[in-house]
Amino acid sequence: MCTFTASKEKMMSKRYTITAALPYTNGPIHIGHLAGVYVPADIYARYKRLTGNDVAFICGSDEHGVPITIKAKKEGVTPQQIVDRYHKIIKDSFEDFGITFDNYSRTSAKIHHDTASEFFKTLYDKNEFVEEVSEQLYDAEANQFLADRFVIGTCPKCGNEESYGDQCEKCGTSHNATDLINPKSAITGNVPTLKETKHWFLPLNKHEQFLKDWILEGHKKDWKPNVYGQVKSWIDDGLRPRAVTRDLDWGIPVPVPGGEGKVLYVWFDAPIGYISATKEWAAREGKDWEPYWKDEDTKLVHFIGKDNIVFHCIIFPAMLKAEGSYILPDNVPANEFLNLEGNKLSTSKNWAVWLPEYLQDFPNKQDVLRYALTANAPETKDNDFTWKDFQARNNNELVAIFGNFINRVVVLTNKYYNGIVPKPGEYSSVDEETLAAINAYPSVIESSLERYRFREASQELMNLARLGNKYLADEEPWKLVKTDEERTKTIMFVALQIASALAILSEPFLPFTSAKLKSILAFNNLAEAQNWTDVSSNEILLPIDHQIGKGELLFSKIEDKEIQAQLDKLEASKKANEAANKVVEPQKDTITYDDFTKLDMRVGTILEAEKMPKAKKLLVLKVDTGIDVRTIVSGIAESFTAEEVVGKKVTVLVNLAPRKLRGVESEGMILMTETPEGKLVFVNPDQAGATNGLTIS
Ligand code: 2FM
Ligand code: ZN
Repeated sequence: MCTFTASKEKMMSKRYTITAALPYTNGPIHIGHLAGVYVPADIYARYKRLTGNDVAFICGSDEHGVPITIKAKKEGVTPQQIVDRYHKIIKDSFEDFGITFDNYSRTSAKIHHDTASEFFKTLYDKNEFVEEVSEQLYDAEANQFLADRFVIGTCPKCGNEESYGDQCEKCGTSHNATDLINPKSAITGNVPTLKETKHWFLPLNKHEQFLKDWILEGHKKDWKPNVYGQVKSWIDDGLRPRAVTRDLDWGIPVPVPGGEGKVLYVWFDAPIGYISATKEWAAREGKDWEPYWKDEDTKLVHFIGKDNIVFHCIIFPAMLKAEGSYILPDNVPANEFLNLEGNKLSTSKNWAVWLPEYLQDFPNKQDVLRYALTANAPETKDNDFTWKDFQARNNNELVAIFGNFINRVVVLTNKYYNGIVPKPGEYSSVDEETLAAINAYPSVIESSLERYRFREASQELMNLARLGNKYLADEEPWKLVKTDEERTKTIMFVALQIASALAILSEPFLPFTSAKLKSILAFNNLAEAQNWTDVSSNEILLPIDHQIGKGELLFSKIEDKEIQAQLDKLEASKKANEAANKVVEPQKDTITYDDFTKLDMRVGTILEAEKMPKAKKLLVLKVDTGIDVRTIVSGIAESFTAEEVVGKKVTVLVNLAPRKLRGVESEGMILMTETPEGKLVFVNPDQAGATNGLTIS
């Protein structure tokens, strides 16, 4: 029998600074961001808090950088207007989705400008920069230097023809804009010229040995292989100085002599945003920020996507090392990318599931998306999100396993005992094993979370619900209640302990569900709050005589039509995108009026039609032209069936020289044209007033 230990075991508390990549404020958050960064980071932060640690979970908007300037230019507004708009959208949607940042700041905040400037000045004063006048890419027409996303060209490493100036999105390489082959201005499309300008460079080569010792020697075992592998390959390629200033007007002004008209490179200021956001939070909470960044006992963990690895594992650590008073990250558990229905997520192509839209379309279903993204997280390789998988995760796992178990326990407890936890009798060996299994779950889940294996952890949680279902199915209290009341009470008591363990252990993964379940089980009426470690400490989680509440469904089925609506939305994006990208054929050379009058066009009627065998595109038509009935072979079979064109009035070019197509002589042409969307349509004679023979006037 479980024993109640009055004094709860004290947990070993540690300080954690957990950061999640600062999202660019040029669009809302989508599922790729959530799966790659924010859901795992939130699970980790919640888990660390639940296990008694001192946590600062930090994020904020990344409001500088070229994408924001480009968007502002496109919309004819200021960059500040763009970042104000998206900062609010992003912050609100994170909150609604249950992401528990201790502070969500922004890099346009004064505290950040001050912190980043000060950081730069410290490095400058310590002679940690190399100041150099060099030739940089320049767009004379736009009167602007071309850095980062203002320039596109061929990646020197992988040959991707659409690499940006600072990073290739295809192979992840980070480079200087002048390294690009065939660079082109993203503003005017012009080939840039070279112009001299002064910049401050961080000599990464100087930090190469430190990076080798710290990462290649020190973190070979505990960093994820995808992260370690990327970092190793960069270091093995040799590190070079990187410019950390830019000739732009949107950003943090370079705070040293000669810096007028220049700003800090966005990737210099953005990671410092983690520090300034911590300062802002600490000031608000009356805490000291410094231990979170300077105490060697603090564990610093950066959650990022794979395209951010070089910045968090090489450049930012080199900056921190050069500054001298900061700790370095303990781990950088970067994820790979999430695709959507087989295609790469893309903001510009609107190929995404946007968080604000999801929250509108699926109100109160935050946990379903959190679960689907975690269960299918792109942890070791790129993964695909499909709406069918989302539906299956909900209907077959959350509803059928987790929800079903809780529903049975709560309904039966209310039915048999008016919701009062019954007193168990003697435990059977199955009961003992089940209770021991519950006790083991926290450390099973912890072991996965400590290794940043969130998928595995979420599946262990679901296994606990599976254990509950199996226990009930094997013990069948609904049968025993008629013959053995004592045994039924023991079974229901054990089942209620499983339900309680689920309420506690699900919190990092399914926070809304956990809160609902705790309320159903009336956790707030317990004499002592139950927490994560209580689940493993052989304690009774829900005591005898405790009154639980009435049942309430935790999850509901998602119907096919809801999934279809989402697929239709994506299809519409695809179509709109195809139409937008369609190349409109330029107008052909001018013809004379005399050329045109040579065409003899008649209104005809299609009398018969049949598909040309073994030809995808061709229909063989019999057409009454008003002069005669003739055979015309027309290339419209991909757009129209033979049946649907019979009886149609069409415009026929009758004096086109006959020619043989697949052995059939075609004596004319049915006139067709394309709509702007690319759909093939007949040049339809006005049937009411049609005469045989068109007049041209
Ligand atoms: O890739 C991005 O979306 C960047 N805005 C991430 C910045 S993370 C940090 F360094 F600020
Ligand atoms: Zn590349």
